[in-house]
Amino acid sequence: MDTAVERAAAAVRRARHVVVFTGAGVSAESGIPTFRDALTGLWARFDAAQLATPQAFAADPELVWGWYEWRRRRALAAVPNAGHLALAHLATRVPKLTLITQNVDDLHERAGSRDVLHLHGRLHRPRCSACGLAYSDWSDLPAGADLPQVRLPPPSCATCGGVVRPGVVWFGEPLPERELGDAYAAAGNAEVLISVGTSGLVYPAARIPQHAHAAGATVIEVNPEPSGIAADLVLTGKAGAVLPALVDAACAL
Ligand code: OAD
Repeated sequence: MDTAVERAAAAVRRARHVVVFTGAGVSAESGIPTFRDALTGLWARFDAAQLATPQAFAADPELVWGWYEWRRRRALAAVPNAGHLALAHLATRVPKLTLITQNVDDLHERAGSRDVLHLHGRLHRPRCSACGLAYSDWSDLPAGADLPQVRLPPPSCATCGGVVRPGVVWFGEPLPERELGDAYAAAGNAEVLISVGTSGLVYPAARIPQHAHAAGATVIEVNPEPSGIAADLVLTGKAGAVLPALVDAACAL
C-alpha cells in the first residue's frame, strides 16, 4: 500500500538533511493555544495591536508584561506531546536534522531537541529593552499571572535599570539575524522539509518552506486543516498522531 505517510517516510529515509519547520499547531495538543483558530486562537481572543507590538509595550508595559507572564506560565505548566517527542527521536535517526520553530515555548527542547532555531524568540528569555542584557533573576518576578488580564510591572535590569521586556519578536520587529540566516541556509540545503502545525501566513518565516521547495526539497505538510503552505505531500491530521506514524515508518528497516 502506497499511502501518503509511506511516501513521506520514503523521502525522509533518503534524505541526508531534513528540516522541520513548526508552528503553534505542534504545541496545541499540549494545551497551548494557537493564534488563528477561530474560537480558541490567541488572536481571536486578544488584540495583537494592544499586546504584541513595541508601541503596545511602550504605552502599557504592565498590561503587556502580565499577558506574556500568563503565557509563559501556561507554557511552563505544559508538557511535550507525542509530536514533539517524535521529532526529537527523528533527529537521532537521520544524518542531519535542523529544527526551526516559530513557537516561543520550550516544548521542543523539553522533548529532547537540540539547537532549535527560534525565529520568533522565546518566552523564557526576557531581556532589557535598553541595554539588551538577558534577564535571569526569576526569583524577582511577581507571582500571580494566572489570568491573561493581570497587570504586572516588568522588572528592571540589574545592570542599567532599564525596563525588562518579553523575549519574543513583536509585529513590526525584525527576526533574529543569526537564527533567520541559519534557517534559510538549512532550508536551501535540505532534501526534505516537514512543515508542522503552521498556517504559513506570517512572513518572513513563511518563506522558509517556499525557499526549500524552490531549492528542490520535498515539502511535507502535517496539519489537520488546509494551510498556506505549498506542499508536495499533505498528511492530514494532528501532529501528535501523524508525526509518530511518520517517524516510525521512516525509521522502520
Ligand atoms: P497559527 O495559529 O496561524 O496556525 C496554527 C496552525 O496549526 C493551523 O494551520 C492549524 O490548522 C494547525 N493545527 C491546529 N492544531 C493542530 C495539531 N494538533 N497538529 C497540527 N497542526 C495543528 O499559528 P502559526 O502558524 O504558528 O508570531 O502562527 C505564526 C505566527 O503568527 C506565530 O509565531 C506568531 C503569530 O502571530 C509572533 O508572535 C511573531
